[in-house]
Amino acid sequence: MPDLNVRPYQSADRQAVFRIGADTAFFGSPIEAYLEDRTVFLDAFYAYYTDLEPEHAWVATVDGEVVGFLVGCVNTRLHNQALWSTIAPRLAGKLLRGKYHFGKRSLAYFVGLLTGLVQKEFTSVDLGLYPAHLHINLESEWRGYKLGQKLMEAYLRQLRLLGIPGVYLDTTSLNEVACRLYEKMGFRLLDARPDRFWAKWFGYPVENRCYGLKLCKPLPSFTLRTK
Ligand SMILES: CC(C)(COP(=O)(O)OP(=O)(O)OC[C@H]1O[C@@H](n2cnc3c(N)ncnc32)[C@H](O)[C@@H]1OP(=O)(O)O)[C@@H](O)C(=O)NCCC(=O)NCCS
Repeated sequence: MPDLNVRPYQSADRQAVFRIGADTAFFGSPIEAYLEDRTVFLDAFYAYYTDLEPEHAWVATVDGEVVGFLVGCVNTRLHNQALWSTIAPRLAGKLLRGKYHFGKRSLAYFVGLLTGLVQKEFTSVDLGLYPAHLHINLESEWRGYKLGQKLMEAYLRQLRLLGIPGVYLDTTSLNEVACRLYEKMGFRLLDARPDRFWAKWFGYPVENRCYGLKLCKPLPSFTLRTK
């Protein structure tokens, strides 16, 4: 029997996390379905978690090999600030130096993304109640062995120890197994909106979904008095 395990992320796992992140980005399949160049997605989407908040990332291993991960963030407002102050300038620099390959697929995807943004197709969440978030992905051959559940349990335990009041995640109705896992872990649907880009792609309705889980009562807020 192979040895299945979940442990905290280490910097040596970065390459494996990036590979799995790209291999699973198209609803569990490789990202090349909608982007020619996986590095632009990884630099934009995953570098924050591995480089700026690695202490809240976890990996699933089989006989010591990384086969999946959960990357987390305990304060989404800080994450959003870091995207503008650190991640976006890095991306812009590489873009200007011609490090990314943009083709028709990428163009169609980014136009779809911007249209979705303008048409308010993306879900929203109260970051006061749910400040933390996560992304989870496993290689296809190691799904269904409870590694997803173990990754979630490890991260949720960590969040509870840190006193984080709530955690959310974004997904879609196409990630059916993931939605079941989240519901099993106690998450509830907070917001859902139709996504026109993927609906057109697949030829049937697709929903963007936001799930949330309250972990503990938020600390009582108090006002600092100044003279
Ligand atoms: C979603 C994912 C992380 C779940 O991890 P997993 O290790 O496969 O799931 P587990 O074996 O831990 O199963 C936990 C629960 O998920 C649900 N589940 C798992 N496999 C399922 C399947 N094939 N069909 C239906 N439900 C399933 C069940 O509720 C299960 O609990 P139960 O067996 O007690 O009923 C993994 O399947 C994955 O990476 N999928 C592709 C990428 C993805 O969708 N990521 C999420 C993006 S938001």
